[in-house]
Amino acid sequence: MAWGTILATLFAILTLSNWDLRGSALSIVPAAALLVVYIALIPKTINGAHYLPLVNIEDDIFPLSLRVVVVLVFALGIETVAFGFSTSGIAPTFSLGLAKALSWYFTIRTTRYTSWCIATAMGTFSIMSTRDPFAQSSEVQAVSHVIVSFFVLGQVIHMLPRQAKARSTLWVFFLVSLVPYLANIFALRTAQSFTSQRFGHSQEHPVEALIHSARAEFESLLQKQSKNYTAAHDEYRRRYGVEPPLGFEAWYEFAASHQSPIIDDFDTIYHAISPFWKLSGDEVVEVMRHVQNAPNSELWLCAFDGDIAKAHCSHSHRTFDRNIGFLFNKLLGDLHGILPDVKFLVNHLDEPRVLIPPESFGGDHHGKGLFNLTNMSNRPVWDTITRFCASRRSGRGAWTKHTVQTFGLPFVTDPLATMDLCRHPEYSTTHGLVMSPTSFRLVEGLVPILSTGSPSTMGDILFPSPAYIESEFQYTDAHDIAWESKQNNLYWAGSTTGGFASDDQWRYYHRQRFVKLAQNVKRRQHYYLRERGGVVARVRSSFLNSRLFDVAFTRIFQCERKFCRDQRAFFNVKAWADKDRAFRSRLVFDIDGNGISGRYYKLLASKSAPLKQTIFREWHDERLIPWLHYIPVSQSMEELPELVFYLTSTETGQRMVREIAEQGRAWFPKAFREIDLSIYTYRLLLELARLQDRKRQAS
Ligand SMILES: *[C@@H]1O[C@H](CO)[C@@H](O)[C@H](O)[C@H]1NC(C)=O
Ligand SMILES: *[C@@H]1O[C@H](CO)[C@@H](O)[C@H](O)[C@H]1NC(C)=O
Ligand SMILES: *[C@@H]1O[C@H](CO)[C@@H](O)[C@H](O)[C@H]1NC(C)=O
Repeated sequence: MAWGTILATLFAILTLSNWDLRGSALSIVPAAALLVVYIALIPKTINGAHYLPLVNIEDDIFPLSLRVVVVLVFALGIETVAFGFSTSGIAPTFSLGLAKALSWYFTIRTTRYTSWCIATAMGTFSIMSTRDPFAQSSEVQAVSHVIVSFFVLGQVIHMLPRQAKARSTLWVFFLVSLVPYLANIFALRTAQSFTSQRFGHSQEHPVEALIHSARAEFESLLQKQSKNYTAAHDEYRRRYGVEPPLGFEAWYEFAASHQSPIIDDFDTIYHAISPFWKLSGDEVVEVMRHVQNAPNSELWLCAFDGDIAKAHCSHSHRTFDRNIGFLFNKLLGDLHGILPDVKFLVNHLDEPRVLIPPESFGGDHHGKGLFNLTNMSNRPVWDTITRFCASRRSGRGAWTKHTVQTFGLPFVTDPLATMDLCRHPEYSTTHGLVMSPTSFRLVEGLVPILSTGSPSTMGDILFPSPAYIESEFQYTDAHDIAWESKQNNLYWAGSTTGGFASDDQWRYYHRQRFVKLAQNVKRRQHYYLRERGGVVARVRSSFLNSRLFDVAFTRIFQCERKFCRDQRAFFNVKAWADKDRAFRSRLVFDIDGNGISGRYYKLLASKSAPLKQTIFREWHDERLIPWLHYIPVSQSMEELPELVFYLTSTETGQRMVREIAEQGRAWFPKAFREIDLSIYTYRLLLELARLQDRKRQAS
C-alpha cells in the first residue's frame, strides 16, 4: 500500500514539476473536503482499538478550538512572511490562511494516526484535480492531471479500512477533476465547430485582406528602387531636397555591386539625422565632446579611422563595450580608404536615450547645443517623452495605410501609426519602458547618439544592434525542423525584462500582459470574429483555447523581492527552456524587452512565422513588410486570440501563415546579410561625417 502511494506521488510530482506549487491555494478546498469525508467514513474503532481518535481527544491537553486558533495564527504568520500580505485585501488572505490552517491541522492529525502516505496522496489529489484545464498548453498535460487524480483517489479509497461503510462514495470526488476537463473538451469542440461558420464565401477575413495588400506593396517596393547612380542621386534629391553626402556615388556602387535590394529607402537615416542640421559642424563636435565628458553620461565615443577602416571606442570608466567596436569593425573593416574619418557617440544601454526639443523649446537664446542629462531609472517617463507631441509635425514614412475592414479588432493596418506614441495615450499604462524603465538615462537636447531602437517620439539615431551579429543569436538550419513537424501553436519563453517592478504595476508591463493573456491566467473577455447570415461581427467570449499557446516566463527578475514573489505566484513559471525550442512551433512570438528583441532575426530566418509586437523603431523597418515577412501584433493584443485561432485553425489561415514563414525566410538572406548591415552603416557614416564637417554651416 505504501509503495503504491509513493509511486503515484512520484508520477504526480513528475507531471507537476512544471508548475508552481505555491500558487495552488485553490487545491486546499478539495483536500479539506476529501479529508472531512474520509474521516467521517472511518469507523471509530476497529476490533476494539481506536482507529482515528478525532472525536476522542482526552489525550490532548488543549481543547480543539484552542489548537485550531494556534495553528491558524501560525499559518497566517508563515503566509505573511513567505508571500507578503496580498494587496487585494486582508479578507482573501485571511480566508486563504484559514483554509490552509485547517487543512494542515487535519493533515497533521491524520498523519499522527494513520500514515504519511494518505496525506501525500490527498495533497497530490487536490493539486492535480484543481489544475485548470482551460490553462493547459497541451492536451497531454490536461489528460495526465485527470489520470493522476483518478489513481491517487483510488489509493486514498484503498487505504480506508475495509470496515468503513460506503467507501466507494469517495469516488464522487473524481468529479472535481473530471467535470472541468469535460467542460474544457466541450468548449474546444465548440470553438472548432465555429470554424465552418467563419467567413464562408461572402467576406474576406481581415488577415487575408491584409496579406493580399502587403504582397502588392512589396512588389512595388522592389520595383521602384533606382537602377543606376543618376537615378539614385535624383531620388535622394527628390526625397530630401538636398544633395546626397560626399562619397554617395561610391556608396551606390558598393550597394549595387552587392545586390542590395534597397537603394532609396533609407528614410530612417534621414529622419534621424536631419534635426541636427540646425547645428553647424562645429557645434555638433562641441556638443558631442561635452556630453561624453558629462558625469554618468554612459556613452561610448567611437572614432572611426577611414584609412585603416577601424573603429576605436572608449568610455570614461568602462572597458566592455557590449560588442559595439566589434560591430563596426566587422561591418566596415574591409572598406580601407573609402570611408571618411568620423566620430560618433554610441549608447550601450538597451533603452533609448535622446529627446530632441522642437525649435520653440530649448531656446536659441540660451545658446545652441545645450543638453540636460537626467536619471529616470524606475520612474514613469511617459509624460516626459511625449511632451512635444502637440508641436510635432506628423511625418509619414514609407507605408501607405491599408484600408482593410477590421470589424473593431485592432489588427495592425499601419505599423507606423501603431508605433506612434502620440496617437496612443493608452500606451502610458501598457508598456514597461514608459512605466518603469530599468536605467533610462535621458539626454534632452540636440545630441547625436546612436542607439539600437527608439520609440516614435525620441531622437536616437538607429544602428543595427550588435546582438544581430553575435553568435548566440545566429540562426542555424540544423536546429530547425520542417513545417509539417512543427506544433500548430504559438510559442514564447523568456524573462520579465521590459520594466523594473517596484510596485503592483508590473501587471501592466508589456511582457506580463502578453503572458497573462496567453496563459489564460485570469480568464477575461476575448473577442472573436463570427459570420452569421453573411454579416461579420465581433463577438465576446471568455473562451481562449490554451492549447494554441505555449507561453511562459523562464526567469523572474528586474523586480523588488516582494514583486518577484508575486509574479512567481501569479504566472506559471517554467524552469528552463532551450533557446531553439521556438522552432518546434509554427508561430513564434517576439516582444520588446527593455529595448529591442535580439532574437528577432533568428525567428525571421527560421521556418516558423514570427508574430512581432514592438514600440521600437529599428534600422530595418523599411525593409520588412508587415503581413508579408512577419505578422504585426498590436499593443493591446485584443486581436491576438482571433489571430492565433485564424492562423492555426482555419484552412486559409494555415496556408497563409506558412507562406509568411517562407517569405520571411526567403527575404532574410537577401536583405539581412551582414553586407546589408554594412550598406546601411556605410551610408549612415557618410551622413554623420557631413554632420560634423567643420566647414558646414547651420541651416
Ligand atoms: C538610369 O535609370 C533611369 C530609370 O531607372 C533611366 O531613365 C536612365 O536612362 C538610366 N540612366 C543611365 C545612364 O543608364
Ligand atoms: C539613478 O536612479 C536610481 C533610482 O532612483 C538609482 O538607484 C541609481 O543609482 C541612479 N543612477 C545614477 C548613475 O545616479
Ligand atoms: C534643461 O533644463 C533647463 C531647466 O529645467 C531648461 O530651462 C532647459 O531648456 C533644458 N535644456 C534642454 C536642452 O532641454
